[in-house]
Amino acid sequence: MSAASTAPSDTALLGFARDAATRAYAPYSQFSVGAALLLSDGSVVTGCNVENASYGLAVCAERVAVGRAVADGLLGTGRAAGTTIEAAAVVGPGAAPCFPCGACRQVLHEFGCARVVVEGEDPKADTPATPLSLPFSELLPRAFGPGDL
Ligand code: THU
Repeated sequence: MSAASTAPSDTALLGFARDAATRAYAPYSQFSVGAALLLSDGSVVTGCNVENASYGLAVCAERVAVGRAVADGLLGTGRAAGTTIEAAAVVGPGAAPCFPCGACRQVLHEFGCARVVVEGEDPKADTPATPLSLPFSELLPRAFGPGDL
C-alpha cells in the first residue's frame, strides 16, 4: 500500500485499518473488519474481510492483508524473504477491541508478527480510540511456526 519514510504511529495504523474496514464485504455478518500490517521494510498493507454466500468461506481482514502482501512481493519469498510483520492493527465495527481470530493469529505468526494493535476499550465518542498494543506472544503463546519444522 505505502512505504512511509518514518514508521506510522499505532494511531495512524488503526486509522488505515479503519479505512480498510469501510471496504469490507460483509453482507451476512454486517461485521466489517479492517486490518493494517506494518512490515519491517516500512510498508503498510491493508485488508478487509470478504464474506461469501457459502458462509464458511469468509476470509478475515488479517488474512486478506497477508495474502495481499505476499502477492505484491512484500512478504514471503525472494527479496521479501527476510521481511516480517512488525505490527498488525485490527479494527472492528464496535467499541470493543477486535482481536484477531485464532486462524489469523497462526497466519500472522508465520510471518513473524511482533505485536497486535487494537482499539482500546471504551473510547470517547468524539476522540479516536487509544491504541492497545500487545506483544504477539500474549495472543499466541507457545506457538507453532516455521522454526519448529
Ligand atoms: N473477522 C475478521 O475479519 N477478522 C477477525 O479477526 C475476526 C472475524 C470477520 C470474519 C467474518 O467476516 C466476520 O468478521 C464475522 O465473524
